Formats: sequence, structure tokens, C-alpha cells
Amino acid sequence: MTAYLRNYWYLAAWAQEIVEKPLGRTLFGKPMVIFRTESGQAAILEDICPHRFAALHPGRVIGETIECPYHGLRFGTDGQCSHSPFSEKPPRAQKVTSHPVHEEDGFIWFWYGDADKATCTPVPDLGFARQTPTTEFIRAYNHMNADFMLGIDNLLELSHVGFLHRDSFSQGTDTLAQSFINGTFRSYEDEGKIVSHWKFSDEPGAYAQTQWQAPTLCIVEKGFDHSIPPRERRMIGLHLFTPETEKSTHYFAVETYDTMFDAPDYAEQVATLTKKAFVEEDVATIELIQRNMGDGDLLDLSPLLLPIDSGTFRTRRAYRHLLDLQESEAARHQEVAHA
Ligand code: FES
Ligand SMILES: [Fe+2]
Repeated sequence: MTAYLRNYWYLAAWAQEIVEKPLGRTLFGKPMVIFRTESGQAAILEDICPHRFAALHPGRVIGETIECPYHGLRFGTDGQCSHSPFSEKPPRAQKVTSHPVHEEDGFIWFWYGDADKATCTPVPDLGFARQTPTTEFIRAYNHMNADFMLGIDNLLELSHVGFLHRDSFSQGTDTLAQSFINGTFRSYEDEGKIVSHWKFSDEPGAYAQTQWQAPTLCIVEKGFDHSIPPRERRMIGLHLFTPETEKSTHYFAVETYDTMFDAPDYAEQVATLTKKAFVEEDVATIELIQRNMGDGDLLDLSPLLLPIDSGTFRTRRAYRHLLDLQESEAARHQEVAHA
């Protein structure tokens, strides 16, 4: 089980997930309702009505409020009750907890931490993934019954691609496995970010790398793309993990395509291929790893170490370092409060 880093923006949902109705989604162990008001504002409230504790997400959006489906109390985006069918004035004493939200380019971000710090912390800028004005995103959501750190471990160690993804990315061949076996690998830290970099010998300039940045963003980049159909361009994928509970995770992934350069069915093919690779291969494997690891942390379990693991371990140590900083800062604050 991995403790959480606070005071960061985490991805809560894709905008496309709240088009038709409110979405119930547990974040960091707490049930939330994510919805869009009639004027278009995205909001995240705890999914518990203060009256008789019904879930709000099966309710309706009415104007700028969400209506509790049980007895019709309505709550605004700030969580304040603004209407009661059974009293002249809405009860103001109790409100639903609301959380800071930022929406940009179809990403609905959720602030996990002290609410007063949200406005001074920029959300991750992911615009670089659009290499041309005609780049489009293929967005996926996968649920994973595992600690989010296991998802990050997996991406910082790309050499599994040739084996685990033999039937998807390698199209039933040993070609990719051989590229990794013949390639050279190094990992390094770059201003707090961790990079795992593979250089391949089969084509000049061919490489694949993953960069992790706190708390849970992994940027995967390939010097040439092995997807179907293969292409010369650099390929960028984004992977974002948001804890649902200590042992389950919302796994968001973005692949890109270019409407000017790619075949008309490219997006569909990549969506199908990545679904197979990420869900049937990665997530299925990670869930069994979680079963086998139980409550253990990779750094404490003395696993067999191979040279390909250095990026994963650097990332684990960098994450633990940030957690230590967070804990010592919290302890300092407590000392000051008690002084
Ligand atoms: S439980 Fe929500 S209005 Fe009664
Ligand atoms: Fe994978």
C-alpha cells in the first residue's frame, strides 16, 4: 500500500464521462460525484447527502445544482444547500464538502490537499503532447484493482513490451523483444523527474522512454512508432493514475494521432490495440502482482533485481523521498501549532 502525496492536482475524469449524467467515482477512498451544471461548470462534491446520507450521483442536475434523488434537496457547486422542497428556506447549517476542480482540454482535475493551496498550484501542462495543430487525443479509462504505484512501476520498465505485449504491440512476433534485448538502457533523474531511456540499435535514432513526474504522471515517448500502421514520427502517450482506494486505481491513458498525416481508421486501430495491451495485458498482470505482493512495498520486499529495473527503483525512491518531506513538513506544522 502506498501513501498519497497531497497538494497536487490529480485527474478525476474525462470531460466525455460527464456529458449525460453525473458520475459517481471514489477518489482517495471517498465517494465523489462529478457533474456539469447547465451553464457548463464542472464540479466535484462528496457523494453523500447530509440529510439521510443518500448518494447524490443518481440525482438530476437542475440549473447550477445537483438534486438529491431521495428527498429533493439541491446543492450548488460550493456544496451549499440552495433548495429544500420541505422548508421555506434551504437549510444552511450543513453542506456537502466540495473540492477544487480545474477543467482544461477535456481533462477534469481534482485537487487533493489543502483547498487554499489549489489556486497557486498550476495544473500539469500537457499541451506538448499535441505536436501539430491537427493532433487529436484518444482517451481511455481503465479500472485497476491494484495500488497505483504498480502502474507506475510498469511504465518505468518498458522492456516488458517485447514479452507481455507480444500479441499486441509486437503483433505476434519476437521483433520488439529482440529490439530491447539488443538495445541499451539507462535511467536518470532530471530535476526531480525520473527518466527510463532505451536506445535501440536496429534503426538510427530509435528510442523509447518513460518520464515520471510527481505525483502520478508518466509520459511515454517513442522515436518511431510500432503501432499499426508503423510511422516515422515521434509518438507520445500520457498515463495518469489516481487512487480510488489503497488497492485500486483509476488509470487514464492518452494516445495521439494526427488527422493530417494518419490514415482515417488510425485512431480506431490504436484504440483497439491499446485496449488489448493496457487492459488485457498490463492491468491483468498488475492485478496479479498486487495479489502476490499483498501489503508489501516493492522497496522492502527484496525482489530479484535486473538492470532493467533501475528506473522503477529510482522512481520508487523519489516518491518515498517526497513522502518523507511531506511528513516532516506536517510534523513541523504540528510543532508550531502546539508551541
Ligand atoms: S437523503 Fe438527500 S434529501 Fe434526503
Ligand atoms: Fe505495458
